[in-house]
Amino acid sequence: MILVGAAALTATIASAQNLDAGKSTEKLFADGCATCHRSPRGLAKGRFSLTLSWFLKDHYATSSDTAKALAAYLESVDAPPPRAAAKPGAKPSRSAPRPPKPAQGN
Ligand code: HEC
Repeated sequence: MILVGAAALTATIASAQNLDAGKSTEKLFADGCATCHRSPRGLAKGRFSLTLSWFLKDHYATSSDTAKALAAYLESVDAPPPRAAAKPGAKPSRSAPRPPKPAQGN
């Protein structure tokens, strides 16, 4: 608690003119986004940061600076999709494979 308070205080002092910009993007995410998005990972989805910051500005009414910072943050934590290099034809099998019914003895 004390640690968090101190960090917030430092951030506030560091840039007092813009409250949003004073927060670290991690904190911004924790405060404003984590309610609905449990993890910042997987949100950027390999988008361009420009597209992403537009999206954030549009949907979440943040300042463009905040949106840019958030976009950069999302990109930095975004892990590349696990099967990015997989063959495009390969279908992910969601349901458990079902053994074919025995078709004999009609
Ligand atoms: C009230 C719940 C809520 C909050 C708070 C919220 N989001 Fe979202 N977000 C959603 C929902 C629901 C979607 C999916 C619908 C959509 O794409 O418009 C979404 C979609 C997104 C997407 C696109 C992901 C995709 O799959 O295309 C990004 C990026 C994103 N949010 C980032 C953020 C960031 C950054 C914040 C904090 C500034 C935030 N969200 C706060 C509910 C929320």
